[in-house]
Amino acid sequence: MPVKIRSEASGRHPIQLARLRRSAETLLGLTGHGSSELSLLFVSDPAMQELNRSYRQKDKTTNVLSFPMQEGRDIPDGALLGDIVISVETAAREAREMKVPLRQRLNWLLIHGLVHLLGYDHERSGREAVLMEAREYELQQSLMRIERKRSMTQLAINVDHVATLRQARGINEPDPVLAAGICELAGASGIVVHLREDRRHIQDCDVRILRETVKTKLNLEMGATPEIIGIALDLKPDMITLVPEKRQELTTEGGLNVSGQKKKLAEVIAQMSKAGIPVSLFIDPEPKQISAAAAIGATFVEIHTGRYCDATHEAAREEEFDLVAAAVDFAFGLGLKVNAGHGLNYQNVSRVAALDAVEELSIGHAVMARAIMVGLDQAVREMLALVQR
Ligand code: PXP
Repeated sequence: MPVKIRSEASGRHPIQLARLRRSAETLLGLTGHGSSELSLLFVSDPAMQELNRSYRQKDKTTNVLSFPMQEGRDIPDGALLGDIVISVETAAREAREMKVPLRQRLNWLLIHGLVHLLGYDHERSGREAVLMEAREYELQQSLMRIERKRSMTQLAINVDHVATLRQARGINEPDPVLAAGICELAGASGIVVHLREDRRHIQDCDVRILRETVKTKLNLEMGATPEIIGIALDLKPDMITLVPEKRQELTTEGGLNVSGQKKKLAEVIAQMSKAGIPVSLFIDPEPKQISAAAAIGATFVEIHTGRYCDATHEAAREEEFDLVAAAVDFAFGLGLKVNAGHGLNYQNVSRVAALDAVEELSIGHAVMARAIMVGLDQAVREMLALVQR
């Protein structure tokens, strides 16, 4: 294992060791040291102050210390590079001051520590400082690019409107369960259904059967009402997406007002988390809502693309797309997993799918509308081709 990683920091600022290990391994690969070894230790300020006093005669804490095992810059791959120690408390303080996510600050300190282990030293001379900074910047950009696009954008299909058609006749076809199977065979990464309070399309028994039959991932879209929460806790879908729900609306309109109901939503997230169900919050592309979603412990946000999709002229569409793109980046930077959806169709999907940090799109109406003409299998495959192009 090229990266040995350990945390002795107090739990006040939660860090994700698995993610940090992956960043460190990526950085080793980027610097041509994929087989080299390093050790990474996270501590709190008192331990860092002690290290700084013992090794550098400075009686105060600091953000990062490197202890190189090699000399110079001509280090062969496979060498033991040394140790990096990072104070999580100082990193968190700096992140707050710089208004950046803690994860971003920790990544930067990791880069700084590694570049030291590789023989750079900004304290040696002005020229050396410039060289080191350039190397750090280059590594930071490459790491960000790689971390954003670890995998291709996935496509989850919402089969609500198969049930809409069934309910229009009050008989038992078309069947959303059968439709879900066809979507999965065509390459969908997940099935989404919205169990509405008024049961206008999806019924309780659909969700129950889908829970048994969906092989990919069942995402239950729902309002945060006690009845539906009870059903979700009972059926345990693979994830839930909380949406605002109004009886009169034709489809979900705006995103959730997370910042205005943090306490209530945090309680739902805690309940779901106890049952092992990750929660996504469907929100408008607004920094305030994204920060609130991160603060209350959501795993995912689904960025509402409706205003982008519904824009009636070019300038407005561009403006709305920029908001979606900025929201996706901001949410990803806060450590959230990012999905997107609503109103996406065969004409407007590609740009959203191409956003680096978008993990999955949730699409319903456009695929079902096309399925009536060309068949569901083909409609899903065509959409998938656009999403993964
Ligand atoms: N995401 C959410 C949260 C939704 O409520 C909906 C609509 O049910 C969708 C995505 C899919 O939207 P559309 O049917 O317009 O593709």
